[in-house]
Amino acid sequence: MTACPEERFSGRTGQAYYADRADRPLTMRAAEESDLPELVRVDREVFPEEPYPYFVLRQFFDLHADRLLVLDDGDTLHGYVLFVTTSDHYTSWVMSLAVSPDQRGRGLGRRLMLEVLRRLRAEGVREVRLTVEPTNAAAIMLYRSLGFSSEDQVRKDYFGEGEDRLVMTLAL
Ligand SMILES: CC(C)(COP(=O)(O)OP(=O)(O)OC[C@H]1O[C@@H](n2cnc3c(N)ncnc32)[C@H](O)[C@@H]1OP(=O)(O)O)[C@@H](O)C(=O)NCCC(=O)NCCS
Repeated sequence: MTACPEERFSGRTGQAYYADRADRPLTMRAAEESDLPELVRVDREVFPEEPYPYFVLRQFFDLHADRLLVLDDGDTLHGYVLFVTTSDHYTSWVMSLAVSPDQRGRGLGRRLMLEVLRRLRAEGVREVRLTVEPTNAAAIMLYRSLGFSSEDQVRKDYFGEGEDRLVMTLAL
């Protein structure tokens, strides 16, 4: 698994740059309305069995555009993360994290998550929660390496019949 060379990453508030496989810089930024078709495409590519319907992503965007970070090479999106904070500002849920299959294993999922955690710490959010399929080893490894721990038991039928999930939490 090769990570992006560190010199290709320059952290700035709200923006970060990486090289994609064609050596084009990838920018991490808040989603814009014009991203919606690409966002839907990436979501369908990453979650082919259960993508969000277009209208759901549209409404997430309408409600939480600044909580929707995308990886953009200027032409194509290569991933995104969506996180939403409860109205008491105590808990934030990472609702979706996606990196395109051809971009995986290069540190992009970790960068998206680190930016989410950085923003939430700065806002004073106290804990981050997320759900993950119990068989999703890559995601579970990523979350554990960031300090998330899971409940002892898998939540059976969490998202409906047959849709068991592990709930993971990180105290900030
Ligand atoms: C999970 C996902 C976002 C990880 O993105 P990524 O850019 O490939 O991850 P990174 O390169 O940043 O890797 C970060 C860590 O994740 C873990 N990881 C990533 N791929 C892995 C794999 N194939 N097997 C085991 N662990 C893996 C490792 O702990 C890795 O750290 P390391 O590089 O120090 O070993 C990506 O695989 C993905 O989009 N999967 C499909 C959608 C999904 O499952 N989303 C999460 C839903 S809860």
